Amino acid sequence: MRNLLILLVCMTVVTGTAAVSSQDQPLRELAEAHGIYIGAAAQSDLLEGDYAGVLSREFNLLTTEWETKMCVTHPTPSTYDFERTDKLLAFADEHQMIVRGHTLLWHECFPDWLASGDYTREEAIDIMREYIHTVVERYKGRIAIWDVVNEGITDNGLFRSTPWYRMIGEDYIDLAFRFTHEADPDALLFYNDYGAEVLNRKSDAVYELVSELVENDVPIHGVGLQMHLQVGDVGDGRYINREAVTENINRLGDLGLQVHLTELDFKHPGKADESVFERQARDYREVVEICLAAEPCTAIIVWGVTDLYSWRKSFDNNPDAAPLLFDENYQPKPAYTAVQQALAEFTPEDDPA
Ligand code: G3I
Repeated sequence: MRNLLILLVCMTVVTGTAAVSSQDQPLRELAEAHGIYIGAAAQSDLLEGDYAGVLSREFNLLTTEWETKMCVTHPTPSTYDFERTDKLLAFADEHQMIVRGHTLLWHECFPDWLASGDYTREEAIDIMREYIHTVVERYKGRIAIWDVVNEGITDNGLFRSTPWYRMIGEDYIDLAFRFTHEADPDALLFYNDYGAEVLNRKSDAVYELVSELVENDVPIHGVGLQMHLQVGDVGDGRYINREAVTENINRLGDLGLQVHLTELDFKHPGKADESVFERQARDYREVVEICLAAEPCTAIIVWGVTDLYSWRKSFDNNPDAAPLLFDENYQPKPAYTAVQQALAEFTPEDDPA
């Protein structure tokens, strides 16, 4: 699968030949040598200055952090708004980057007009079909990968009672993938979730869900593991232990699915000191190595370009949150160097066939 990806990346991204051994190369060149994408979540109103410079230099993929969510693209029953997404697409085109559209269906950023309506199952299906076709057809051939459904499974492995679930039933997921594939048959379609990185009740439920989709010939191509983690989560006896993540990735691969690490970041309490940043770096390195060693893993996306705009500042109510690779002054942190070393030093003979 990666050989195909190498061809796709090389055809799409014009860069110098990456000499994997060099550690002064941007992440995107080192990643391309392994046939994987390295990406970042990006925001349309930040695409200038150092933000634009780091994003275009280091990454060959960007994820729309919030611009392609339904509350943004379909704010009223009769209107669509693509202004912000168009800016991200223009940036990606200019810098030979692949775009991951995130996310067509989610229980958050769910438009008020739809939440407050009283729709029959058939009406809800018609609304979903028209919405997905309108958005996905606009970006046909330009958004290469879609998170079709985000966070549809609860932490205890049940269908999350989302508005789509309540209006349509369990088959809302099948329908969403089928509508998206109708709109763009060439796009890669993913199910995306958090807390399903290792072998647990939730990842078993995700595995059962996507196994059934595959068995029913629903057009699904991959699973996104969000990887929103805490510094110290990685290692033997920790949440992210190499064997469990690798087994989880490979069982999804055995279904013919790709796996993307879609929202990688490492939170920490309060203000991090040097020891925290060093542990954060080791954790990032191990996660990158896990992906490189697991053939179905074809993309690593960090959830933001710089600590300055990380969602974690507000979500964790921590103004000193520093979960990413570049600090608030766009300077590379130990985590960046660790990721660069992991990509540079993972020798090709270790690469999956
Ligand atoms: O930047 C605009 C500003 O121009 C505008 O005036 C203002 C109006 O409300 O909105 C601002 O955008 C905010 C955007 O983040 C960028 O900061 C949105 O309000 C805010 O809702 C949006 O939050 C995003 C959140 O999902 C909800 O969509 C976060 O950026 C994003 O990091 C977060 O990402 C989620 C994933 O989709 C799913 N997994 C969990 C992850 C973290 O919650």
